[in-house]
Amino acid sequence: MKVGILSGGGDAPGINAVIRAVVRKAIQGYSFDVIGIKDGWRGLLEEQFIILDLKSTAGLLPRGGSILGTSRTNPFKWKNGPQRIFKNVEIHGIDAIIVIGGDDTLGVAYKLSKMGLHCIGVPKTIDNDLEGTDYTFGFQTAVSIACDALDRLHTTAETHHRVVILEVMGRQTGWIALWAGLAGGADAILIPEKPFNVNDICEIIRHRKKRGRNFSIIVAAEGAKPKGGKEIVYSPGVDAFGNVRLGGVGYYLGREIEKRYEGIETRVVVLGHIQRGGSPTAFDRVLATRYGIAAIDLVREGMFGQIVALKGNKIVSVPLEEVAGRRKGVDLKLYEMAKVFFG
Ligand code: F6P
Repeated sequence: MKVGILSGGGDAPGINAVIRAVVRKAIQGYSFDVIGIKDGWRGLLEEQFIILDLKSTAGLLPRGGSILGTSRTNPFKWKNGPQRIFKNVEIHGIDAIIVIGGDDTLGVAYKLSKMGLHCIGVPKTIDNDLEGTDYTFGFQTAVSIACDALDRLHTTAETHHRVVILEVMGRQTGWIALWAGLAGGADAILIPEKPFNVNDICEIIRHRKKRGRNFSIIVAAEGAKPKGGKEIVYSPGVDAFGNVRLGGVGYYLGREIEKRYEGIETRVVVLGHIQRGGSPTAFDRVLATRYGIAAIDLVREGMFGQIVALKGNKIVSVPLEEVAGRRKGVDLKLYEMAKVFFG
């Protein structure tokens, strides 16, 4: 059997750990061949492949990024895209494809699997907003990077008596903001699921001042928006899946706070792609490894049209149908709990 593997969408620490696990078990456990598909779905459209074997996947466990590369290619936006994919799969004798991706990439896997392609999904996104799994790999690493940034920002904010705003990723959901904010002791956390009011944030800062805390730390997800307003878009245009590029809510907020609260100085830090780069945490290495092994096991069992997922502490499989086109918002109970520490 020949198994293809691709990674699509934004990278997340742990992709290489998945690839390593798939290759190891495929070759040593099942005597399968594994072929790497370059740059997401684009590699399959353009026949860009690399051979994956024990040698080429050695030393991958701690390595960030993806040795396969990635792209946000949507084959359904290409002329005869799906047909080209089926043709290339046949020409290259690929029997099944392991698709490492978030909602967009797995959405394509779902559509193609309904057309007969043998796909297994592996849930990847630092945003952790994929339905069907408790955690995607990469999320924990992003949270720990953001938490580290918050610890550092605390000391300088306190010393200068400033309000420091940390903008983190999270287009439609505030998982990173909420977890990092909780772990890093943020005084306010802004998430896309709960539009904010600048006056309420000024109130939090005032309240802190009254009790002698002359600085504040705010974490904002890039997709957070003011009540009745819209997300702050960084640049016009959309990708092949219709996603806009967000960014700037931190600066918007900083300016609004300074306008409304005389004497307050704000500073803004946009964490950006630092959250996605570098080595995965130990947790993400183990999760990615478990996902990789489970994915190749599903291939072996012929259980196509599924993703591997974490439910509680168990790795399970979930139909792509239950994942595609859905989004997992933050646990709002956890958000309410975080509010105990606001102000
Ligand atoms: O989807 C994951 C994500 O990291 C989002 O949080 C973020 O908005 C986006 O990717 C950024 O993507 P790009 O790499 O295209 O800038």
